[in-house]
Amino acid sequence: MTISYSILLLLVLGIFVFCYLVATKVWIQVDKEKKDSDNTPKNRRDFLYISSMSIGGLGVATFMWPFIKSMNPAEDTLALGSTEVDLSQIDIGQSITVKWRGKPVFIKRRTEEEILEAKNVDLNSLRDPAADEDRVQNPEWLVLEGVCTHLGCVPLGQKMSDIKGEYKGWFCPCHGSHYDTSGRIRKGPAPENLAIPPYRFISDSVIKIG
Ligand code: FES
Repeated sequence: MTISYSILLLLVLGIFVFCYLVATKVWIQVDKEKKDSDNTPKNRRDFLYISSMSIGGLGVATFMWPFIKSMNPAEDTLALGSTEVDLSQIDIGQSITVKWRGKPVFIKRRTEEEILEAKNVDLNSLRDPAADEDRVQNPEWLVLEGVCTHLGCVPLGQKMSDIKGEYKGWFCPCHGSHYDTSGRIRKGPAPENLAIPPYRFISDSVIKIG
């Protein structure tokens, strides 16, 4: 349930609880007055008061509904927040780039050699230490935000013909940052590894990013 629906539910509940409390209070008073005297015009006024309160409460809820509903993100916005990617057409050693929230996301199907190179690294030698195992969900598939952590250029390395840098991963030509086959910064001015976007495998060959 979204936050705005929760707010609406609380609002409607609040109105009903308020009406219930008012009604209870009035009916107790009515009962008490009935015992003192049979005052029919006053009872009728109380009934009208309770009815108008209830109808007013429902009216407020109905009036508020479009405003509260408009607070939810539109469906096309929600769709932009996540992207499903079919991996079945990507061969070993190939990479593709997809867009997610306006950013390029690199998806690389790594070779055995690239996986071994990513694993056999002394973490103490890294500027931004991170084990390869902690950067992948399946060693064969590396998913990275394709945004250099120096000043935000898009590194080279996605095409077979691209320069991949000294560590055979990605190379950012803007100021010369080299990333390895796990997307970790190894040389150059970039301070951090390429970021890993939130994603999950929804089947053996499809991931959902976002
Ligand atoms: S933006 Fe990539 S090295 Fe500067």
